[in-house]
Amino acid sequence: MDRRSKCLLNAIFQLLCMIQGYTSQDLVVPPFKKFRDTVVGLKNALLDFQIIPDVLEDVPLQVIKVKFQDKIVNLGNKLTLLDIMVPPTHVSWEFEKGALYTLIMSGPDYPSRMLPEFREYPHWVVGNIPGNSYLAGETVFDYHDPPETYHPGTHRFVFTLYKQNGSEPVEFDENILKKENMILFRKYFKTEIFGRKYRMEAPIGVNFFEVDL
Ligand SMILES: *[C@@H]1O[C@H](CO)[C@@H](O)[C@H](O)[C@H]1NC(C)=O
Repeated sequence: MDRRSKCLLNAIFQLLCMIQGYTSQDLVVPPFKKFRDTVVGLKNALLDFQIIPDVLEDVPLQVIKVKFQDKIVNLGNKLTLLDIMVPPTHVSWEFEKGALYTLIMSGPDYPSRMLPEFREYPHWVVGNIPGNSYLAGETVFDYHDPPETYHPGTHRFVFTLYKQNGSEPVEFDENILKKENMILFRKYFKTEIFGRKYRMEAPIGVNFFEVDL
């Protein structure tokens, strides 16, 4: 190969590298992915979306992995009402062996973000979860997608994970009412107060998304 063709090949190679580098770093990787991988990033996301102070008082240690079918929950991304008609198909977190956990999905913007007079709506609460086998936990509030009593607008939905205090199961005294009564009953829920009521340690995991209703 003569010098000129080598030079040309090299130039093409470098150009390809440049395009490749640009593509993989700036176009393919969503900004949140980099952003959330740090404690500071998580704190900023929670403050930006006002999850602190509207739901939580402090920054939990980990981001819970949650999926509704193929839709991944990722610190404030948008899902649709259709996506969340049924419970998540995957929820996992890092756990200590022998510990029990409580998982809460709540809606702080009930009935609206501007006037959340019934804050929060408990969409789903599962307690006494061994490790992260949430299907083996005890349902405290069965899964409810957003009811029609939500006003139109953008709403936040927050997953909070508590580690329970000790290895004995908690006795939850929330009345599990009949489904037809649920809409009246499900309001004024407070994630942090629920945690304190059952003497749980501070929330250790979180994730959240938004839906335009
Ligand atoms: C956990 O349980 C112990 C013993 O019952 C109690 O002293 C402690 O205050 C509890 N922790 C929390 C965070 O409530």
